[in-house]
Amino acid sequence: MAEGLVPIYVMGRRYEVPDGLTIMSAMEWIGYKFIRGCGCRGGFCGACATVYRLPGDYHLKGALACQTTVIPNMYFTEIPYFPAQKPLYNLDELDNPAEALFKMFPEIKKCVGCGECAKACPQKIRPIDYIAAALRGDWKLAADLSFDCIMCGLCAARCTGQLAPYNIALFIRRFYCKNVRPKPQQIIDRNKEILNGKYDKAVNELVRLSEAELKKKYDNRDFEKL
Ligand code: SF4
Ligand code: SF4
Ligand code: FES
Repeated sequence: MAEGLVPIYVMGRRYEVPDGLTIMSAMEWIGYKFIRGCGCRGGFCGACATVYRLPGDYHLKGALACQTTVIPNMYFTEIPYFPAQKPLYNLDELDNPAEALFKMFPEIKKCVGCGECAKACPQKIRPIDYIAAALRGDWKLAADLSFDCIMCGLCAARCTGQLAPYNIALFIRRFYCKNVRPKPQQIIDRNKEILNGKYDKAVNELVRLSEAELKKKYDNRDFEKL
């Protein structure tokens, strides 16, 4: 093998790629073109969930392809989308949110507390903790504990109880922000300004501009000084 190259197995096929590349860059170096399974490339969007194993180790590991560098002889595959139930709900019609949680996600009862979800999570989140907090009625804690979830789906791929914890987390944060958290004063003030027409003139002027004029205006906008 040429110096500086490491062997990896992509969906069962062996390749040699430069050491130090991320899984995503290694796949592109091999010749894969991402039209799915790649978004931000910065560890934020969760599009590049990947599962891999190392030789002699039965543990199935999860990673983000854009953030994880290749390990010699790892064999992996990307799972760009993981199917999951996503119930529809109206946040204004929920009298008892904890009860609603069980109604919408009855599989919560199948959580056995095994912790496999947490082991798979690239964000080190423990879904059991935020689900438990929500069921106790501590929506703030539940929202905080799930805040870093990037919806990659790796927890769902591993869950013994067949939960899709990220959809539960999404409901928790939506409910917390809409029904529990005090509304920030600046948002209330800005909404009032908008409704009172403070920005109508400026918006109407923008709408009348040509594309070239808009671009020029954008390029010459005031930048916030850091
Ligand atoms: S909680 Fe699940 S979906 Fe969210 S980041 Fe962790 S593994 Fe991904
Ligand atoms: S993997 Fe599933 S069953 Fe196990 S603790 Fe996490 S949510 Fe519960
Ligand atoms: S591409 Fe967005 S997290 Fe990897």
